[in-house]
Parts: sequence; structure tokens; C-alpha cells
Amino acid sequence: APTIPLANVKAHLAQLQSIATANGGTRAHGRPGYRASLDYVKGKLDAAGYQTTIQQFTSNGATGYNLIADWPGGDTNNVLMTGAHLDSVTAGPGINDNGSGSAANLEVALAVARERYQPSRHLRFGWWGAEELGLVGSTYYVNNLAATERSKIKSYLNFDMVGSPNPGYFAYDGDGSSGSGGPAGSAEIERVLRAYFASINVPVQDTAFDGRSDYGPFIRYGIAAGGLFTGAEDRKTTAQAQLWGGQANVAFDRCYHASCDTSSNINDTALDRNDQAIANAVWTLAGGGQDPGG
Ligand code: PHE
Ligand code: ZN
Ligand code: ZN
Ligand code: ZN
Repeated sequence: APTIPLANVKAHLAQLQSIATANGGTRAHGRPGYRASLDYVKGKLDAAGYQTTIQQFTSNGATGYNLIADWPGGDTNNVLMTGAHLDSVTAGPGINDNGSGSAANLEVALAVARERYQPSRHLRFGWWGAEELGLVGSTYYVNNLAATERSKIKSYLNFDMVGSPNPGYFAYDGDGSSGSGGPAGSAEIERVLRAYFASINVPVQDTAFDGRSDYGPFIRYGIAAGGLFTGAEDRKTTAQAQLWGGQANVAFDRCYHASCDTSSNINDTALDRNDQAIANAVWTLAGGGQDPGG
């Protein structure tokens, strides 16, 4: 896989911060900062050659939007989809939650275009609206796909909070080694997401595969899924601080759902490691084709 430039991901986060600042400090569902965030991501994807679609829905009396971007080519009967929610809570700009996953998803999509990657599987990237209102956008997307189209999505990778300031390194427990596991194929996704961290000797722990982000609606339809996470309101234990560094007995993200979730609420090392892990997983799972980066 190609290396994902951290500077590019950070530039997307700076833009999302500017958008929030110019729109009352938030990128929440129903607020102008949400639509401006979507237009920013869409502009980058359109310029790179993606086929983009805005899907509109209504929630809580306000219009919401998902953005879907298809990379032309590959086996459209075997779709690999990745996604991240683009909305913040109303309290703040949502740069770690979930500018981080949104920017990573965007920069991996742009790397696909730069590399002129022609994988054997079809690649689709999603940015979800109204996650913070209860996975509304992602639920709307899967529920409104025709059954035949839904069955073509063979795997879904989710990225929600991948740059926490006091980071842990977590993979959704798709193989059920510490919980109930996911649909068939989820174990393989977890293994591939963990592989990059193994290669750089960073230990990864399981996090609950309980549907607390936008993969939930996918696994309810039996679609294999997985994802990465650097922690939210839970506090890093002493053992975890010994494993990963950082501050014991302090939340992974002290600014979770708060006004201080700004562009300074990001650990660059964690963000960069997750970006490379995502690219590695996409290139590994999408298979075949040109892969100049290995
Ligand atoms: N979905 C949660 C939020 O947006 C964050 C989260 C992600 C929690 C992944 C657990 C696992 O607030
Ligand atoms: Zn949140
Ligand atoms: Zn989130
Ligand atoms: Zn596991």
C-alpha cells in the first residue's frame, strides 16, 4: 500500500476546523457546518475522479446527507466499502470524533486515485450523516439499498475516532476472541487491520463489536465488518499506559463530545498509524491490480 501523508490528513482536519469555526463552532446534523463539511469532501473526491452521490434523509426535523463515492472499476458484485461519520455533536467541532475517521477515509480514497489503483474488487467510500443522533445516516443507507445491491457489499470497514489525544490502539473484535464476534468474514477483517500494527510492533487490543458506530447497521444485515478506534470517554488503565505510553487514569479523549474537540485534540502518531493501517487493509482486502507501493 502507498504511504498516506500525515500532512494531507491534517490539512483535511484544518479545513473541517475552519468550517466549524465559520459555522457557530459545530458540524452537527442540521447545521450549516455539516453541509459545508460534506461539500468539502465531495469537492476533493470529484476532482480525483470519483463518482459521488449525495443521499438525503430527514431526521429530527432536519435534512441530513450521506456522501457515497465509488471508484470506477473492479467487480461490482464484490464491493469493499469503508466509511466514517462526518457529523459532530452540537457541542463542538468534532475533530477527533469524527473528523479523524472522515479525513483518513478521504485521504485513503485520494491515494487510490493518485495510484490509479485498479483492484479486483469494487471500492466504495461513505461519509455518514447523523451518526450522533443514533447511526441515522448509515442505517438509512443500508435499509434503502435494494436487497441485491446490499448483498454485493461483502465487507465494510468503519473508522470512528482514530486520533485520540491519549490514544489506545483498538480493533473491533470481529473474531469474537473477547466477545460475541461478527458475521462471517469479520475475523479476517480484524486480522488484516491488526497486521499493520504487528509490523510496527504496536500492540492492539479488542474493543466491543457491539454496534456503537456505523458498522452496526451493516452487521445487522450479516455483512462482514471491522474497524479501528483509539478510545473515547473511558480512561486508560495503568497497564495500557505501560503498553502504549500516555497518561494512566486519564480518558483516551478528555474532549469527547465537548467543545474542546478541536484540531489540537489529535495525537499525530496515533492518527498516522491508523491511516497507514487503513491503507494497508484496503490494499490487502481489495486485491490484485496495480499496487506500486507493494
Ligand atoms: N460512535 C461513538 C461516537 O461517535 C464513538 C465510538 C466509536 C464508540 C467506536 C465506541 C466504538 O460518539
Ligand atoms: Zn460521537
Ligand atoms: Zn463518532
Ligand atoms: Zn478479536
